[in-house]
Amino acid sequence: MLANKSIVLGVTGGIAAFKVAELASQLTKAGALIDVVMTRGAMEFIAPLTFQALTHRPVVTEMFRLLTETEIGHISLASRADLIVVAPATANVIAKLACGLADDMLTTTILATRAPVLIAPAMEENMLTNTVTQANIASLRERGMVFVESQFGRLASGKIGKGRMAEVDDLMVAIRKIIAQKGDLAGMKVVITAGGTHEPIDPVRFIGNRSSGKMGFALAEAARDRGAEVTLILGPTYLQPPKGVKIVNVETALDMKRAVEGVVADAHVLIMAAAVADFRVEQPAEQKIKREKLDGMDLHLVKNPDILAQVSNPGLVKVGFAAESQDLVENARAKLEKKHLQLIVANNITSPESGFGVDTNKVTLVDAAGNVTELPLMSKREVAEQVLNKVGTLRSSS
Ligand code: C5P
Repeated sequence: MLANKSIVLGVTGGIAAFKVAELASQLTKAGALIDVVMTRGAMEFIAPLTFQALTHRPVVTEMFRLLTETEIGHISLASRADLIVVAPATANVIAKLACGLADDMLTTTILATRAPVLIAPAMEENMLTNTVTQANIASLRERGMVFVESQFGRLASGKIGKGRMAEVDDLMVAIRKIIAQKGDLAGMKVVITAGGTHEPIDPVRFIGNRSSGKMGFALAEAARDRGAEVTLILGPTYLQPPKGVKIVNVETALDMKRAVEGVVADAHVLIMAAAVADFRVEQPAEQKIKREKLDGMDLHLVKNPDILAQVSNPGLVKVGFAAESQDLVENARAKLEKKHLQLIVANNITSPESGFGVDTNKVTLVDAAGNVTELPLMSKREVAEQVLNKVGTLRSSS
């Protein structure tokens, strides 16, 4: 979604400028066209050549102002930008923007643009908390500029306090969110479940399954990057969940059911990628079961409710997953009908490249109109994009 997006990256004079080299690199890798505009102060901290080498594009600096004005004028930068990011943003540049000053290439470009502006402040705590800086930030916010809050940590002076620039990962999420406002799922509420559930036997033991949550994470990231407001209902996992989505942590199938019911009322799409345990222990022990006292153990299991089959709201597009080891399409179609789904994503779990824990998947999409689309082996993120493409067509035809 960042591919071919034109992003002006304004770098001002703060030590965090070195971190922005990584940001420029990540944005370029994601396919964005990055025009770095550096202030004089920024060049005290990092050389323009660093950004030029990372972005493969000329860097606009004050030093070459005459040359750059003819080659890449501020008006053309301002008008072709899909987004302007100022990182790090000093108290000085924030003050200039708040006053509408235009005394260098960066402030001139920002004054001339209609594109969204994202600002990542970085400064000493006393400068940040100063009422004049706070008033400037409030005034820019009121005018629609978006701030990625600075964090608590070690500052340039060596002191610990608030004012450190946000991490590059957080900046990437904020950038993707703004670009996503023009995405095809903008304004849609999408609920996604991911991971497996744990069904307790006693306070330390549980029955679980091998779901890693990766497919659900890929769906959540893809939906987020296409503009959806995503709620991710997540069973226990060791993996780091995506940023920029609302996370609801659950443990058991019954927790997951309550969580889904709690958020689905105003949702447009529900995608259940979670591997919900089919059975739970009827009476989990309240205290740890002592091995020494037993020769063996019988667990009485009762069936968990089928969350996806039971949940409904008018207009909700329901998408399920079917992990099958044989008769893929027939089994998937039967589940689609039984659970009243618009779409089911079937995968053959006997194949080593698809299914649990891996980054790739090979799936077949079966929809309620009877269309069967067999997709080749692809990354889970690509599968997620294909599922969302299909959801888009199902929504527009409903
Ligand atoms: O019937 P089966 O477990 O194969 O169905 C898989 C689909 O149904 C998945 O989308 C899964 O998240 C969902 N499911 C559910 N509640 C259950 C079991 C499965 O919502 N108790």
